[in-house]
Amino acid sequence: MTSKPVRVGAVGYGYWGPNLVRNLDKLPDADLVVACDASDSNLTKLSAAYPHVATTTDLDVMLAEYDLDAVVVATSAPSHFAVASRVIAAGKHCFVEKPLTLTSDDAAALVGAAEAAGTVLMVGHLMVYHSAIDWIKEYVDSGELGDVLYVYAQRLNLGKVRAEENAFWSLAPHDVSVILHLLGEDPVEVTASGGDYLREGVHDTVFANVRFASGRMAHIHVSWLDPHKVRRLTLVGSKKMLVFDDMQATEKIWIYDKGVVPTQALAYGQDIDLRFGDITVPFIKMSEPLAIEVQHFLDCCASGDTPRSDGRAGLRVVQVLEAVDVSMESGGTPARIDLEV
Ligand SMILES: NC(=O)c1ccc[n+]([C@@H]2O[C@H](COP(=O)([O-])OP(=O)(O)OC[C@H]3O[C@@H](n4cnc5c(N)ncnc54)[C@H](O)[C@@H]3O)[C@@H](O)[C@H]2O)c1
Repeated sequence: MTSKPVRVGAVGYGYWGPNLVRNLDKLPDADLVVACDASDSNLTKLSAAYPHVATTTDLDVMLAEYDLDAVVVATSAPSHFAVASRVIAAGKHCFVEKPLTLTSDDAAALVGAAEAAGTVLMVGHLMVYHSAIDWIKEYVDSGELGDVLYVYAQRLNLGKVRAEENAFWSLAPHDVSVILHLLGEDPVEVTASGGDYLREGVHDTVFANVRFASGRMAHIHVSWLDPHKVRRLTLVGSKKMLVFDDMQATEKIWIYDKGVVPTQALAYGQDIDLRFGDITVPFIKMSEPLAIEVQHFLDCCASGDTPRSDGRAGLRVVQVLEAVDVSMESGGTPARIDLEV
């Protein structure tokens, strides 16, 4: 709980913005004062649901006239840089939906601008606020899985097909941010290939293989063209294996006490034993990840603390996404990832 509610404005009330507005409206630490959208019809919908929130189509009016502490940005990805730059230039704390920007130069410029202005910059890497990911992070850090050898993530569905960014930029910020968060290691190289089956030049299906200096590997498969709705992450450790299935309502994490044990060779080809143990499903107390994320932003605005998904985390993810594009454009040759931060 912050001492006095943070005066917030919300920009972008399309598909995702209403979820941010719903949370801002109900959290006592936020005073949602004004909303801005380029579309009058979207603002009409907002006014019907939240008559006490002022509306404007003009971002400059929002920034100048409502004495805001902070602004949340849920406009389409190509506009993030321009909108967030103006928010930061006006001296407001800024939350930007993922991906932070569409180039690492723009992301680095936002990070520099927020640092110079002394304002909070946070990116909406929603999954790093998920209670199950918190649980997995603690489990990995405790060493229970052993060394994490490799990881793979799938984020698949039929739609929502976008034109302004490819499926990797749209979906994989969640997986990349979670994998960097869980492994705590910088990736060094990516090999990726994708298909633009639905809209020429916009990859709707991408397979990316990310390598880390330690030899770990992360495979990320995203698609808007798949028969199944899948949100799954698998971690294979040297002691145990873990599956996080976010499509399950309650039993989201499965731990497999399975592995391979080197043994004395008894006969040719018998120098490893397979170990099969229990499967456990821990109880995870769930809250809406978006409510946790928005509350974290409000807390950071009030305290000045650095968010878990700060601008630098956003920049790191954008650098990985760029490397995936470079690899895909060069026909799947490896692209180096040189994280600047
Ligand atoms: N965290 C998540 O799980 C999640 C899920 C979906 C979308 N998103 C992100 O949310 C953002 C918005 O996605 P969406 O699907 O809602 O897009 P959308 O196109 O449905 O909505 C964008 C809205 O922003 C408005 N807008 C665009 N440019 C503007 C500007 N310069 N000034 C004022 N209004 C402007 C549009 O009129 C529209 O109403 C994207 O960054 C997307 O990646 C996040």
